Amino acid sequence: NLFDFGMIGLGVMGRNLLLNMADHGFSVVGFDKDKAKNSALEASATPGTTVKGVSELSQMIQLLQRPRKVMMLVPAGQPVDDVIASLLPLLEKGDVIIDGGNSHYTDTLRRVKYLRDKEIHFMGIGVSGGEQGARTGPSIMPGGDQSAYENVRPMLEAIAAKVGDTPCVAYLGKEGAGHYVKMVHNGIEYAIMQLISESYAILKYAGLSNQQLHEVFKSWNEGKLQSFLVEITADIFLQKDDKTDAHLVDVISDKAGSKGTGKWTSQDSMELPVAVPVIDTAVAMRTVSGYKDERVKASELYSSNATFSGDIDELIQQVHDALYFATILSYAQGLAMLFQASKDLNMDIPLPEVVSVWRGGCIIRSSLLEVFTSAYRQSPELSNILLNQEVASLVKSVEDNTRSLIAFAAKSGTPAAALMASLAYFDAYRSERMPTNLIQAQRDYFGAHTYQRTDIPGTFHTEWGQQ
Ligand code: 6PG
Repeated sequence: NLFDFGMIGLGVMGRNLLLNMADHGFSVVGFDKDKAKNSALEASATPGTTVKGVSELSQMIQLLQRPRKVMMLVPAGQPVDDVIASLLPLLEKGDVIIDGGNSHYTDTLRRVKYLRDKEIHFMGIGVSGGEQGARTGPSIMPGGDQSAYENVRPMLEAIAAKVGDTPCVAYLGKEGAGHYVKMVHNGIEYAIMQLISESYAILKYAGLSNQQLHEVFKSWNEGKLQSFLVEITADIFLQKDDKTDAHLVDVISDKAGSKGTGKWTSQDSMELPVAVPVIDTAVAMRTVSGYKDERVKASELYSSNATFSGDIDELIQQVHDALYFATILSYAQGLAMLFQASKDLNMDIPLPEVVSVWRGGCIIRSSLLEVFTSAYRQSPELSNILLNQEVASLVKSVEDNTRSLIAFAAKSGTPAAALMASLAYFDAYRSERMPTNLIQAQRDYFGAHTYQRTDIPGTFHTEWGQQ
C-alpha cells in the first residue's frame, strides 16, 4: 500500500502537519536524516492512523503514490534548494513539490520556473498558526500551479482550520503568490504585535499591574478587538516565572528577534511602491529594541519624570480604541500592498479569498476579518479597505479617542511609534490635497525635475527665483 503524502523535515511544524493529515485519514510518510525525529513522529501518531518515518529520501519517494506529493518544511534559503536538488533525480514528471516554509517569493518564482522546465510542479505555500496550529488546523496560503493545487487540495482542506464549515485554505494566485501573501501576513503580524506592545507600555505607565493588564486584554478579547494576538497577550500577563517569583513577562529581555519576513514586507512594499508605514515602524522598533546599551545611556540623558494623573478608565478606553483604529490601518496597508502586487507582479491574488483564509488558524486571525471578508464580497476590486463604508464607520467611531490617546502618548513621552504612524497615514490618506505640491516645486527649483499643474495639462519647468 502506497502512501498519500510525504514530508521532508520533521521539526515540530513538519511533524505536526503530518500528524494532522494522518488524523484526517491520509497515510503519510516523513523523512528526516535524524532517526530520533522519525521515531518521535511514529510515537506521537494517533493510534489507528498510518504514519511512517524514514531516514532515506529515496525510500520515502518509493513509498509514495503517483503523482507524488511531497512537502518540505526546512529553513528558507539554501536548504530549500538543497532539498530540491536531492529530490530531482528521484521524482518523475507530474510530481508535486511543496515548499511550506517562509521562503521569499522571488526564490519561489525562480524555483517554479526551474522545475516547470522539468515538468515537476512546484508550489509555494504559506502556513500560519505556529506549532499548535499545524497540529490542529493552520491557515494555509497556497500559490503556484493551479492544476497541482487540485492534486493536494483534499489534503490541505482536511488539515486547515475551519470557520464554520469553510476550510481556511484557498488558491491564492499564480507563481509566488502563496509566499507573497504569507510575507504580507507576517508584516501585518509584526504591525499588530508592535501596536499591542505600545498599548501595554501606555497602560503600564499608567500603573496597571500584570493582573489588571490580564483583565483588560481578556475583556478586549471578548469585544470587537477579539483576536488571537489579544487573546495570547491576556494569557501572557498571568504566566508566572518558574525560576523566581516574578511574572515571566517582567523578566524577559526587551530585545526582539526577527527572522526577516517583516523586513521583506517593508522592502518589497517600497519596490512596488505601496505605503505600509505601520509595518515599517514595527520593523524599525524591533531594530531599536536591539540598541540596548545606547538606550540605557539615552534614558539617563533624556530622563523623564512624567507621571500619570488622570482617569484610568477613560485612558483604558482610549487605548482600546486606538489599538482598534491602528489594527484596521495595519490590515488596510497590508491588503493595499497585496492589491497592488497582484497586478504589478501578475499574480492574480484574490483578496476576498485571502481575508477569508485569514479568518481562522493564522496568527493575525481576528473578528475584523469578518468585516473585511464582507467588504471584499461587495467589491472584490477594492484598492483599500478604508474606502469601504462599513470600515469607514468603524474607523470614524474610534477616531476621536485615537487622537486623544496619541496626544497623551506624545505628552507623557511613552513611545507609540506604530500607533502614531497609523494616524499619520490616515490623515495623509484622507487628504484631498497633500502639501506635496511644495515638494514638486522644490524638485523643479533645484533640479529642473518639472511639475504638472492643476489647471493646465502638460509638463512644466520654471526658472525659479528670477522675477
Ligand atoms: C505564523 C508565523 C510564523 C513565525 C514567524 C515569526 O504565521 O505562524 O508568522 O511564520 O512565527 O516567522 O517571525 P519572526 O521570528 O520574524 O518574528
